[in-house]
Amino acid sequence: MTEQLRFDNKVVIITGAGAGLGRSHALMFGARGAKVVVNDLGGDTAGGGKSSAAADKVVEEIKALGGEAVANYDSVEDGAKIVQTALDAFGTVDIVVNNAGILRDASFQKMSDADWDLILRVHLNGTKSVTQAAWPIMREKGYGRIVMTTSAAGIYGNFGQANYSAAKLGIYGLANTLAEEGRAKNILVNTIAPIAASRLTETVMPPELLANLKPEAVTPLVGWLAHESCEETKGLFEVGAGYIAKLRWERTQGHIFGSDRPFTPENVAQKWAKITDFTDSEHPAAVAETFGALSRAMSQKSLGGNEFIDLDVATREELVLESSYDERDLAIYALGVGAARDPMDDDERKFVYELGDFHALPTWGVMPQSNAMLEQAKDGGLKLPGMNYGFDRVLHGEQYTEVRGPLPKSAKLKHIFKFKHAYDKDPHAVVVFGVSTVDEHGDEIVYNEMTTFVKGAGGWGGERGPSADINTPPDRKPDAVIEEATDVNQTLLYRLSGDWNPLHADPAFAKAFGYDKPILHGLCTFGHVGRHVVKAMLGNDPRRFKSIKVRFAEPVFPGETLVTKMWKEADNRVIVETSVKERGKVVIKNAVVEFYDEIPVRKAKAAASDAAPVAAAEPGKVMPQDVFAVIADHVAGHPDLAAKVDTAFQFKLNNPESNWVLDLKTGSDAVREGIADKADCTIELDADLLHTVVTAPLADVQKLFFGGRMKVGGNVMASNKLTELSVIDPARYEEAMARRLAS
Ligand code: NAI
Repeated sequence: MTEQLRFDNKVVIITGAGAGLGRSHALMFGARGAKVVVNDLGGDTAGGGKSSAAADKVVEEIKALGGEAVANYDSVEDGAKIVQTALDAFGTVDIVVNNAGILRDASFQKMSDADWDLILRVHLNGTKSVTQAAWPIMREKGYGRIVMTTSAAGIYGNFGQANYSAAKLGIYGLANTLAEEGRAKNILVNTIAPIAASRLTETVMPPELLANLKPEAVTPLVGWLAHESCEETKGLFEVGAGYIAKLRWERTQGHIFGSDRPFTPENVAQKWAKITDFTDSEHPAAVAETFGALSRAMSQKSLGGNEFIDLDVATREELVLESSYDERDLAIYALGVGAARDPMDDDERKFVYELGDFHALPTWGVMPQSNAMLEQAKDGGLKLPGMNYGFDRVLHGEQYTEVRGPLPKSAKLKHIFKFKHAYDKDPHAVVVFGVSTVDEHGDEIVYNEMTTFVKGAGGWGGERGPSADINTPPDRKPDAVIEEATDVNQTLLYRLSGDWNPLHADPAFAKAFGYDKPILHGLCTFGHVGRHVVKAMLGNDPRRFKSIKVRFAEPVFPGETLVTKMWKEADNRVIVETSVKERGKVVIKNAVVEFYDEIPVRKAKAAASDAAPVAAAEPGKVMPQDVFAVIADHVAGHPDLAAKVDTAFQFKLNNPESNWVLDLKTGSDAVREGIADKADCTIELDADLLHTVVTAPLADVQKLFFGGRMKVGGNVMASNKLTELSVIDPARYEEAMARRLAS
């Protein structure tokens, strides 16, 4: 058992110790060897009357237990007299428990000055008075323990207790400062907010609740806080019914507007969610920590901005959005930017037909992040960090898109939007955001830079930015020209890729913006231009395509003919300009497209999962013999299979080469390596696709076939019977494979 915490030779003053909590504390101290001053005015709960009986009775109780105690009948407002009693009887003071209290509850509306004053006098002034009289003695001896009594009403507020809660929180404020002033002199000050049955609470709480709220359940905390071995100071505790918990202040991370830049109530409103967000909150415990936050604010020099553009927020925050796409998105996009208009043309089918030698158009790289942004804007408008303007002000000025290699046929992506520049073209602004798009492996697959012209958002006195005309075409005939009409319904097709702006679909809407009819999306023209370069300069093989940078000069109307001129500047660099034939207007200018020297090879982990998107299972380092062993087990366990399937299969595997027989006709020696004497059906494919054939759904197997990755000879229809192998259940296959690999 731990040693009893004793108070031998310690002199303790407990105010209001004639009843309730104070009495309970006094008995505890008396029983543990303290010399106790039992103070009590002996009045009623509202502060009326006076009697020595209450204090005397408790003194007697302590003495009966063998303790030492004296009574004091003064009001706590006369703190010096109470301390004098301690000095006269015991010569010093070591501990003060400020506990005395009364109530004068009334709604604030009805509260009289008398009610207000009396409560503040007894609680706040009384606590101050007793403590101040004991303070020099404690300082002198370099020892003191002070326990203050506050209340939940003070901490949280409570109807009808304006006076009481003001006084009680005042006590906590007093305690916090005394804790600081007393620290160096070993005077420790703590505050409790008790809940207990007493005459103060008997009228406000139901009897069954009061029965469980014994003052004795509060006193042990007072005993510990008042003991010399306890080093706690400046603490605040809720205590009652056998429960003790500590409270502290909590502060949000807040928002720094900066001290050198004016800001408005509107700015505060905009940042309210952040100002009040307790995620990653702090728990300041001293004034210095407030100064710490302020000095952080002061040291942060504002980069400037105005009501539309806040450069401080823009540089500090980033936006992360997610999206995904698949082959269908790629095909719809390709059609939207005019690919494969002639279905008999072999060259562009690869962009729209997923079963062939399928490729993403490189300019698709701009779409996932752009779509993610548009999607997010659907609920509440544009949310780029620090940008407080809507789409109505924005014109897409320039676009740079760089793919890190051939784009995957499907991907789950994360887009990280980071502010790059804002140029002040007073009265307008030019804003540049960089967007890094990473795939599910964390590899960056595209980097975009979007330059927007923001009407009326300039004028904060910032840099004007570069104005040099770059990437202008040389003064010679272009090395290649592609002339191609857009379709009259081009925008209607393109918008299915994600940009729903009615400007591109609704004639009335377009009219309101000053156009005779819906205009082509800028990024639709961009897609056409990129495709023209792939066609003319890369022989329609998009895999070496690296980047494209364009400036949007004029809108294009659907049905107009685009003329894209290309000047080869170097092996890997082409200057591009696109105009509309019918109007002779340049629509895309200062454009440049760059190529890689060689087709970039994506990292193994990403490439592996991309190579076999149809595979239902990826059993790692499984060899054909493993797969066939599992099939052999299965066939052995299902003697009826042969009758059902009635087909002999010959597998010809490549990379590495091997031949396997699966004879479900004769049933003898059904699975073996080698060449069959007579096979109904020959199946040829890469060894690593074998597991797909036996585990994936029929549709995926057919996809391999139609995609040219699996060749079937002989009785083609018979190959469908492979599905009769119930090893096709991927879970069972995995299980069997795991068993086999383990053995
Ligand atoms: P109580 O009424 O049983 O005891 C308070 C004692 O203080 C009484 O004996 C009273 O005569 C004495 N007293 C009143 N005015 C005095 C003065 N001017 N000078 C000297 N003694 C005086 O009340 P209880 O419940 O034991 O309250 C003790 C303390 O705990 C009070 O400060 C009260 O505000 C606080 N408290 C109590 C809660 C509870 O649930 N009981 C809740 C929150 C706070």
